[in-house]
Amino acid sequence: MIVTIDGPAGAGKSTVAKLIAAKLGYIYLDTGALYRAVAWKALVTGTDTTSPAAMERLCERIRLNILHTQDGGMAVEVDGLLLNAQIRTPEVTRAAAQVAVLPQVRAWLLPIQQAFGQRRDISGIVAEGRDLGTKVFPNAPAKFFFKADAAERARRRHEELVTAGKAADLAQTRQDLDARDGRDRTRETAPLVTAPDAIEIDTTKLSVDQVVDHMTRVIGEKEKAAGLA
Ligand code: C5P
Repeated sequence: MIVTIDGPAGAGKSTVAKLIAAKLGYIYLDTGALYRAVAWKALVTGTDTTSPAAMERLCERIRLNILHTQDGGMAVEVDGLLLNAQIRTPEVTRAAAQVAVLPQVRAWLLPIQQAFGQRRDISGIVAEGRDLGTKVFPNAPAKFFFKADAAERARRRHEELVTAGKAADLAQTRQDLDARDGRDRTRETAPLVTAPDAIEIDTTKLSVDQVVDHMTRVIGEKEKAAGLA
């Protein structure tokens, strides 16, 4: 079973994807972490994150591993180094949105993500990002697209940063979020759009539990329809 969740930053994708994966015994795939890992490697090696040729060379050299943790989370290892907090900084967040525009980087990450859909040792995956339902898993039986008011998304992201002990200004957080989403929505390769067969959920006024319950019911129906339940 493949469940995809796409949507802009701060719409609640990661929180919900992790809970659904834990509830159904599926594997959680955080594809943003892959773009972040590539961007982090570019920053530490002084690679120009806007240069298609330089980024293509970097991808050819990089060794990227996806690890699943005991608590149902996912971690990325680059050239033997486990990345956690390093890929959640504002610099890496900005650089990730830059490298994500490049078709070379997207093409390199595509089979890495799709390999999860081929695995027969797991009962399902919940994959979240920007192009999971449109490009990575276009045949996924259960697709969702999250949206939420920009002010609410900025508030959530700001709260997350503050909780993580990072100094953050709400207006700046909103500005960064708008810039990133604008780039994601307007890029030529795999822009952030709703797949025609995705179910849209506006999470602005919904609790996490309400979203998880609704999605679990829909996934159960899709499993039955696909003969998986
Ligand atoms: O989801 P997250 O904020 O961690 O993603 C970081 C960046 O990676 C996003 O701003 C987006 O530009 C890019 N991304 C993408 N396609 C995905 C996942 C993330 O372009 N499937």
